[in-house]
Amino acid sequence: MEVVICDSEAEVGDLAAAKVARVVRDVGPDAVIGVATGSSPLPLYATLAEMANRGEVDLERVSAFALDEYVGLPVGHPQSYAAVIDATVTQPLGLDPARVYVPDGSADNIEAAATHFENTIRRAGGIDIQILGVGANGHIGFNEPTSSLASRTRIKTLTERTRHDNARFFGSLDDVPTHCLTQGLGTIMDAGEVLLVATGSGKAAAIAALVEGPITAMCPGSVLQLHPKATVIIDHDAAADLQLASYYRTTYAQKPGWQRYRADL
Ligand code: GLP
Repeated sequence: MEVVICDSEAEVGDLAAAKVARVVRDVGPDAVIGVATGSSPLPLYATLAEMANRGEVDLERVSAFALDEYVGLPVGHPQSYAAVIDATVTQPLGLDPARVYVPDGSADNIEAAATHFENTIRRAGGIDIQILGVGANGHIGFNEPTSSLASRTRIKTLTERTRHDNARFFGSLDDVPTHCLTQGLGTIMDAGEVLLVATGSGKAAAIAALVEGPITAMCPGSVLQLHPKATVIIDHDAAADLQLASYYRTTYAQKPGWQRYRADL
């Protein structure tokens, strides 16, 4: 796992965008990216949109798969992840909406919707790079603690912690759905690369557990330690509880220029 500690949230976004752009360039114009909701990847999307506008990366034929969706929100609800992904990813990046896929949390048959989503990823040839945030309890996607490390896309019950954390987007806690459809940890682990971004002291404990703790379903993100191409890009505050922070800083500082993501910008 490569850990990069940045000076600011903006730098996290810049380096992460450069990383995604590099994968898209390497894979080609039909690259498949996995996209996350939440505030953490917003600077990444903003920088990637600027790069696309400047012609530095071609996203026109790129496909995108969302990680998750609430179950039970009406189609078009502004807090549905379909709407959030459209507003924060599809529109700003200029992606073709027909190539952007979000699990169908309003389906009558949720199990069939989960299977359909897995099959659609497979038909697209798999995800080349999966962008991730992390919940304060270590969840990735909506894989809450005790999720099977081998899980596939399925319905999950949200923890009270997650519902509280996400209540800021809804009128009240009661309006936050209790269930979700999420890519499983096994689904996420199938991506060619995984890129996790996190900022702020509220994520410090989750990042320490995910990067340096034991691999355990109690911290679902810790499964990324088993991924051969996992990158974690964080700011100082999110890095505050890492035991080996100075080692990660030295490692990145000593990288040859061609290996640094910022060289792409
Ligand atoms: C939600 C999403 C996750 C996201 C997390 C953190 O629970 N399902 O994919 O990583 O929120 O969000 P934020 O980046 O806003 O802290």
